[in-house]
Formats: sequence, C-alpha cells, structure tokens
Amino acid sequence: EKGGYDYFMLKEIAEQPKAVADTLLGRIDGSGSLTLDEVRIPPRVLREIDKVVIVACGTAFHAGMIAKYAIEHWTRLPCEVELASEFRYRDPILDAQTLVIAISQSGETMDTLMALRHAREQGSKVLAICNTNGSTIPRESDAVLYTHAGPEVAVASTKAFLTQLVACYLVALYLGQVRGTKWGDEIRAVIRDLSSISGAVERVLGTMEPVRELARTLASKKTVLFLGRHVGYPVALEGALKLKELAYMHAEGFAAGELKHGPIALIEEDLPVVVVVPSPRGRSVLHDKIVSNIQEIRARGARTIVIAEEGDEAVVPYADHLVRIPATPTLLQPFVATVPLQVFACELATARGNEVDQPRNLAKSVTVE
Ligand code: M6R
Repeated sequence: EKGGYDYFMLKEIAEQPKAVADTLLGRIDGSGSLTLDEVRIPPRVLREIDKVVIVACGTAFHAGMIAKYAIEHWTRLPCEVELASEFRYRDPILDAQTLVIAISQSGETMDTLMALRHAREQGSKVLAICNTNGSTIPRESDAVLYTHAGPEVAVASTKAFLTQLVACYLVALYLGQVRGTKWGDEIRAVIRDLSSISGAVERVLGTMEPVRELARTLASKKTVLFLGRHVGYPVALEGALKLKELAYMHAEGFAAGELKHGPIALIEEDLPVVVVVPSPRGRSVLHDKIVSNIQEIRARGARTIVIAEEGDEAVVPYADHLVRIPATPTLLQPFVATVPLQVFACELATARGNEVDQPRNLAKSVTVE
C-alpha cells in the first residue's frame, strides 16, 4: 500500500501534484471562473463579514499563516491567525460579522474543535477546511470546503498542507468575488496560475536528488535554522517543524527581518541555515533585503542553503548550496518552496535512523486538548 515507496511520507510527498490538482477539480467552471456553491454560507452573510479569523494547529496553522497574506491582499478584510490551543483562553473578540476558518487535515483535532465551538457560541460563522469526510470538525461547522489530498497516513503532514493552501486561496478568491474586491478577470488570472501549480510541484519533485545528498551530509548536526520573509516566513516555520518532528533536531524558523533583533547571535561556524528567497520579480525590495541577510550570516560562518527561483542570479555568490524552484507569483511560492523542505527533513530522518512515518511521541490526530 506504500506503492513501492519505503515510507508513506515519500509516497505522500510524491502525490502532491495530484492532490493539488484534485483540490481544484470541480471548483473552476469552463470559463475559468470560480464555482464554490458548496460553501453554503449565503453570499449575503459573507458580504456582512468584517473580519476573518483562522484557527488551526501545527502544519495547518502554517497554512493559515500563509492564507492570511492572500485573504488580506485579495479581500482587504483584516485576517487574524491563531493557534487553536490559545484561541478561546484569551476571550477573543468574535461576533456574527466574524468568519472563522478552522483548518484541519484529520477533522478530529481537539484544540481546533474547541476553538470552533467557542466561535459558534459567540455567533460567528465557521467554515471548515478539512481532508476527512464526515469528521467532527466539518460536522460541527456551518460549512466545509474539503481538501482532496486523499488519506494522509504519515504523521508528518505534507500533501494535506499543499491542499490546505489551495482551499484557503479558493476561499479568499470567493470572498473577493462575493464582496466585489476581486473581479472576474483578476480571479481568472489567479486561477490560471493556481492551475499551473501542480505542474510546478511536479517539476520540483524531479530535482530533489541534490537535496537528499545534502541532507545526508548534515545528519550529525544539532541545529538547523530556517529564514524567510512574507509568505516565505511560514514556509520557514514549516521547514523547521518538519525537521523537529522527523529528525528530532533543534530547528527554528525566523522571519529574516528579525535576524538583527536577536537570532543573528546564534550564527556560528558551519551552522546550516536554510533561506527561502522571495521572487526578485514580485517583492523585489524583500528579495534584496534577504540577499543582504544571506551575505551577513555567511560572513559569520553559516553554511547557507538557499532556496531561490530559477533565474535568480543575485543569490549565487552567497549560496553554499543552491536549491532551484520554478518562478511563480509571490503568493504561490509556498507550494514549490515547501517541497524541498519536506524532502530534506524526510531524508535527514532516514539518515539518522528514525522512524519516518511514526515519529516518537507523536500521533496522527491529536484528540486531546
Ligand atoms: O489534523 P490536523 O490538521 O488538525 O492536525 C494538526 C497538527 O496536529 C498537524 O498538522 C501536526 O502538526 C503534523 N504532525 C505536522 O506535520
């Protein structure tokens, strides 16, 4: 049932192009427009919304952090992202004008379930983004948009994450469409880009051998740091989470702009630092700033592992290891930038003799608070 792969995780990483395509399937009509009738919250209600709050845990939380950029950019609605486990304990400000989005692969995560129950008690509408048909979270929500990743068996979430991004982006576009902040042509353009992402993920998967080789050389390291900016920041957090849970290594993700506010003190000779570089075409100011960061950490001895778009030549002089990803619009870069980090963590876990599909102390679905 592992389909010839050594681990479910490897199989699920490889299934990502299909999972992404399947999650778009049936949600785009012949003219390239969005059809999300399955979101059964009436457009009238969605037009009244004045705030979006995303609740989730772990990898799903990282998907939510990325979604915030798309939601705010496309809908101009304020969007908060909160760890589900923290949410209800701080007495959050919620009312009927708040749309709460609960993201969960399993649909059984107790922290997320308790957060959405709390939101509904305050009169908010809850939309679940979930991968498991008929599970508790969608059953208790006002509406659900299912991700079509297929069953995810490995404890470390991979394909579910990419499909959560697709679903979040569809919701963001739908909100924009209903509320009139996004028009037909703009929506169709984003959908075209989203439709080509599955192919881009496939291309990344075909170039992962050097990443595996690199991972094997780092098996005895104690710490790996991850840096990113904008949507690359949650990608860095996700890369660090994967490494923690699979390789049992100390791994931390930072917003690259924070380096000078503290973390740069951690940089020492030969410390591996993975940097997710924004597109030079999209957010060029951020691109230039992160290139300076790479220079700074390399000057202090870090071993730089740079994930950058094809054609980005500015990073070449400062990269000890360069991982190329296809050029994408800024908001879509997480789809291609996350894949090398998944492969990296999986290979490091294997090199360290760890159980890839069943990391120690972890369960696939966390049904206690
Ligand atoms: O099933 P859920 O998406 O609600 O699970 C949330 C987290 O427990 C989950 O993403 C966890 O962080 C993964 N093991 C990460 O790989």
